[in-house]
Amino acid sequence: METAERSLVNLERQIKMLAGHSITESKEIEKHINAAVEEVLRRNREITGPRPPDPEMAIKFKELTERVAKLRGRGLFYPYVGSGAGNGVYVELEDGSVKLDLINGIGIHLMGHAHPNVIRAGIKGALSDIVMQGNLQLNQDHIRLTELLVKHASKNSRLKHCWLSTCGTIANENALKMARQKNSGRMVLAMENAFAGRSTMMAELTDNPAYKEGLPEYNEVLRIPFYDKKDPKSSENALAKMKEHYAKHEKKISTFVFEPMLGEGGYTVAPREYFLPMLEFCKEKHIAVWTDEVQTFCRTGELFAFETLGFGSYVDLCTIAKTAQVGATLYTEEYNPKPGLVAGTFSGSTPSLTTGYEILRMITEEGYLGASGKIQSIHKKFIAMLNDLNENECKGLLRDAGGLGLMIAVTPLDGTKDKVNALLQKMFQNGLMAFSCGKTPVRLRFLIPAVTTEKDIDVVKELLKKSILEMK
Ligand SMILES: Cc1ncc(COP(=O)(O)O)c(C=O)c1O
Repeated sequence: METAERSLVNLERQIKMLAGHSITESKEIEKHINAAVEEVLRRNREITGPRPPDPEMAIKFKELTERVAKLRGRGLFYPYVGSGAGNGVYVELEDGSVKLDLINGIGIHLMGHAHPNVIRAGIKGALSDIVMQGNLQLNQDHIRLTELLVKHASKNSRLKHCWLSTCGTIANENALKMARQKNSGRMVLAMENAFAGRSTMMAELTDNPAYKEGLPEYNEVLRIPFYDKKDPKSSENALAKMKEHYAKHEKKISTFVFEPMLGEGGYTVAPREYFLPMLEFCKEKHIAVWTDEVQTFCRTGELFAFETLGFGSYVDLCTIAKTAQVGATLYTEEYNPKPGLVAGTFSGSTPSLTTGYEILRMITEEGYLGASGKIQSIHKKFIAMLNDLNENECKGLLRDAGGLGLMIAVTPLDGTKDKVNALLQKMFQNGLMAFSCGKTPVRLRFLIPAVTTEKDIDVVKELLKKSILEMK
């Protein structure tokens, strides 16, 4: 047997042996965990629909939101302080109100609120000897999650390794360093309207002046126009722009980074044919292909959007976070960095590693993925609901519903920032939480939980209709 193969078998055997020693595998502890979860669920099951605030709790709640504003130096976008209780798409706030949550921490809570498996996995993690795991000293939870990620990522790509971090921004920083170390180029090809995170370099990669006011420009980013379905030459133009940049900066370009579907930039979807010529060009010129799947991971119908779009064989680097409950950079053998390039004290909290594993397990084993999976079924029903409103009771006021899987957006009213923000606040008062994306137009954005039912979509329809009609 090859040495590498033998060491993998040994590793698997060791992990199996260790599993028996894990403190949280004890039957006695399991019994207590189940009892605690059952008690929490008993209360959560009482949450079955939107509910207005309790007037008696409202004064205390206002004080709470004012305290947050004072501490942060800036008020919250929504007067939102959760009570810690919820049930599926519903979340309870500290003022006793219940909201139907279609933004989920901007994509963290894929399984909605208070999913029993998620709570159970979190408790197991919390019973560990340590809260935060690190890159120097890690427990089994770290290995289990990275192993599962690599197993699934490598099915339809050459991705082979995984490095955990604490958020999408750092996962992206690590990917950029890996690309630059191997290809020794300063310049980066990125999309117009891209979003990449909040560090200095990720703010530079992000194409939104409002997110970098006062920051210096390092002039290391070369923009490519994202797909425009109204322009038949969209694909050609994007490739031409890439070639133009290459001609000017030959040998200095390390990577081409893109969100397979624009996230903050407007939930714009592009077909495979738009990407392929650029990916071919990058391969030919040894420019790393890096998909930023921080938002798309687990949401587009397959685990990775590079699978949904069918171009996994081109991918050298892929970053994820949000749903994974930790950040992660996945990379091929070629991009495996030299020791010292990526590290950091934290690699994630133990509960985030155990819940990330459980969410990934459910998504891959319980019928969520694929053309006839639960994600596509929710997508179709949700889009049909939006189109129905746009054609009937809210005629012309909810246009261009679209997206992929559980990432859906629609242009409401006149698509201006002020009107959309006012609509979002109105929806919030009426019990429905969503968010915006894009600039011209500003769109109404839904990050829909994978546990959403047909009945939930009916409630969304009523709340959305009420809010739109109140805005007229
Ligand atoms: C595509 C994309 N990349 C990177 C990030 C940054 O991730 P984080 O906020 O976890 O740092 C985000 C966050 O919204 C994102 O949507």
